[in-house]
Amino acid sequence: MLPLVDKPTIQYGVEEAVASGVSNLILVTGRGKNAIEDHFDVSAELETFLEARGKLELLEDVRKVSNLINVSYVRQGQPLGLGHAVLITQAVVGNETFAVVLADDVIDADPPALRQMIDVYEQLDGPVLAVERVPESDVASYGIVDIDPELLLPGVHRVRDLVEKPAPNEAPSNLAIIGRYILTPDIFAALEATDADHSGEIQLTNGLRRLLQSRPIYTCEIAGVRHDTGNKLGYLKAVVYFALRRPDLAEPFRAYLDSLDLTPASRT
Ligand code: G1P
Repeated sequence: MLPLVDKPTIQYGVEEAVASGVSNLILVTGRGKNAIEDHFDVSAELETFLEARGKLELLEDVRKVSNLINVSYVRQGQPLGLGHAVLITQAVVGNETFAVVLADDVIDADPPALRQMIDVYEQLDGPVLAVERVPESDVASYGIVDIDPELLLPGVHRVRDLVEKPAPNEAPSNLAIIGRYILTPDIFAALEATDADHSGEIQLTNGLRRLLQSRPIYTCEIAGVRHDTGNKLGYLKAVVYFALRRPDLAEPFRAYLDSLDLTPASRT
């Protein structure tokens, strides 16, 4: 729920899904995350208040949020990993292809990242993982993919193997999974058969590795800019980036940044 400029980070992911043609959203939440449900819910009191005060522009903004999409919620009682979070949506997803968005990865892209991936899915008819090259020092923070060199479509390869958060000397490449997946319903059986790792979590990467034994999986390098808001520096960069992308803020904000001088002498 941390805002990037004036919207919670999660809303960027939701808007990307909507702009990509997704119409049903399942949010996996947990204890203490009620603010997320409230944010995407109809806020009757606030709407009445804004209407009475004649704040019609703000009213429209508030309605836009609750009208975005058809949202349902699944609660993950214990933090047992990303694979487990996906597995508990099975009853709601049913026997359909679906997308997973990890909203702390915020991607500015046109067409939206998820749309680029859906286009790949429609052509190759298999699961698609969004990937990006990362510095070697960062491979231990990601699922890392080994790909077949043959280029199938622009930015698209077949996965040869994948491993969750490898040590840098054991990583098969520096191609990292970023938080977008198009998954087919056979991932559920693969996740059910996947053991928890040493930290007690069921990893989606390990479920995908199992699924790879029975069908091809593809990678898609996203044309766009990704920010990892899950760490402090990444979050700060994202705030600055999205503020500079805003027509109403770009000019005064850039002038402010240019004028910043934090040397002690300038403060005396
Ligand atoms: C998760 C996945 C990892 C992926 C990453 C992308 O890790 O387990 O494979 O590369 O998201 O952000 P987490 O960031 O939850 O530790």
